[in-house]
Amino acid sequence: MRKFKISSEFTVYDGLKELPEEVRYVMLKAVQARSNAYAPYSKFRVGAALLMDNGDVVVGNNQENAAYPNGLCAERVAIYHAGAVYPGMPVRFLCVTAASELRKVTEAIPPCGSCRQTIAEYEENQNSPIPIYFMGDSGEIIMASSLSDLLPLIFSKDSLNNI
Ligand code: THU
Repeated sequence: MRKFKISSEFTVYDGLKELPEEVRYVMLKAVQARSNAYAPYSKFRVGAALLMDNGDVVVGNNQENAAYPNGLCAERVAIYHAGAVYPGMPVRFLCVTAASELRKVTEAIPPCGSCRQTIAEYEENQNSPIPIYFMGDSGEIIMASSLSDLLPLIFSKDSLNNI
């Protein structure tokens, strides 16, 4: 028997003002996208914005449905949007923000497990890390410098061993 350990390190920014200017610009795009979320059921609005390698910003927000499982998270809407418009173009980083109509969200809200799995495949394909900045509606912003810090031991296309 043996054991191994995987550790992750995160950077915490006190607020929007502390972010590097380029990141703040993209985070504010995510805030804008958040306000366009379609979240009548959870009342939890999420916005995501990706800075693409060519400098363009691609956004997404959560899209819910009366058939609840049909809804999709902001991060996946954004990254699939990027994949659709700029196939194969590397993503420089991703910003995510969440706000609730029911409470103030002052803690940083990380991407759900399904979104992590999805983003991981884009990170693997582009062969370079995708830093992820996430926050609530205000308060601290946490930065993971790679998706793999949020999802170690990933299931990837290599696991299939047939492509
Ligand atoms: N949601 C996201 O958009 N991203 C996440 O990473 C977690 C959850 C959305 C899905 C749903 O519309 C609402 O937040 C409540 O779960």
